[in-house]
Amino acid sequence: MRTISWDSKTPAVRIIDQRRLPADLVIIDLHNPQEVAASIRQMAVRGAPAIGATAAFGLALAGQLSTAGSAQGLWDDLEAAATLLRDARPTATNLGWALDRLLQTAHDSLEKGPQTMRRRLVEEAQKLADEDVEVNRRIGQHGADLINDGATVLHHCNTGALATVDYGTALGVIRTAHDQGKRVHVLVDETRPRLQGARLTAWELDQYGISYEIITDNAAGYFLHSGQVATVLVGADRVASNGDVANKIGTYMLALASNDNDVPFYCAVPTSTIDLSLPSGETIPIEERDPAEVLDLQRQGQPIAPDGSRARNPAFDITPSRLITAFITEIGVLHPPYPTSLSRAVKEAQRT
Ligand code: MRU
Repeated sequence: MRTISWDSKTPAVRIIDQRRLPADLVIIDLHNPQEVAASIRQMAVRGAPAIGATAAFGLALAGQLSTAGSAQGLWDDLEAAATLLRDARPTATNLGWALDRLLQTAHDSLEKGPQTMRRRLVEEAQKLADEDVEVNRRIGQHGADLINDGATVLHHCNTGALATVDYGTALGVIRTAHDQGKRVHVLVDETRPRLQGARLTAWELDQYGISYEIITDNAAGYFLHSGQVATVLVGADRVASNGDVANKIGTYMLALASNDNDVPFYCAVPTSTIDLSLPSGETIPIEERDPAEVLDLQRQGQPIAPDGSRARNPAFDITPSRLITAFITEIGVLHPPYPTSLSRAVKEAQRT
């Protein structure tokens, strides 16, 4: 089943509530753009491509719910909904990318009237979601060539079917290698503070029958230094035009330890995550989340620190491009110099 889908009858955006995993697999319906924005903010749905697809359906939903009788009236409602959705989380490029694509679709049919605009929005959101699955499968094919039989792969956060519409990016590479018959073992970074590795990646690997062990984030350096890791695989929330990467907090330290131990560090991304408008990672907005996520890991009223402790909770960090061995995209594997290879890949993806 897909992480995100469209229910045309209600209408509603249907998602897996990732806050409830691994204990319960719960599907929820989001009935308006406010609920869609809240689900992204509260991380019921998370992962850059999944956020993008959810927001796209959220804008299609805004179209369905708008009572505007004119194209201009509908356009005004769509712009307001897009602003609300865009503000839900700041770091993932895919959010703005998906909303801009849907707005462009509506704009292109302004002259055809509001009913056509509404229909086209739903069609475009569906197309974007379908393409995400196809793009991930191609990333998997390209990336699997980099995984040897018997390899131990270290993975950070969750980049699987849950983080996308289906299949996954970095985890999709591992799945493809596994499906090809290669024996792959995954060291799963637990990924504090939200535990996307321990809760979500481990849950997915269980479903796929792929061998894994969960490690604390702090243990990654030990495994890399002692020669127990063949490859490190991560995803990204935003890639700047020079190849700097914003990804889940802890990625930078992982990249440093990989480089120090000559372990290849690969970043698997759809080209929709590449933001050519930014010269470097310095200008990527980094989300800082509620300190309660650090102080009470399960957010169940069981604090792990003294009462009144303060905490900081940046959700992402920047890994400089010099630490990245290659990017795995739907276009192929990209090597340095990244300013050239990334912009070529984006152009090629736009052509196809
Ligand atoms: O805060 P999250 O869980 O949304 O962060 C997700 C990540 O950092 C992923 O690595 C990234 O979005 C790529 S998912 C294919």
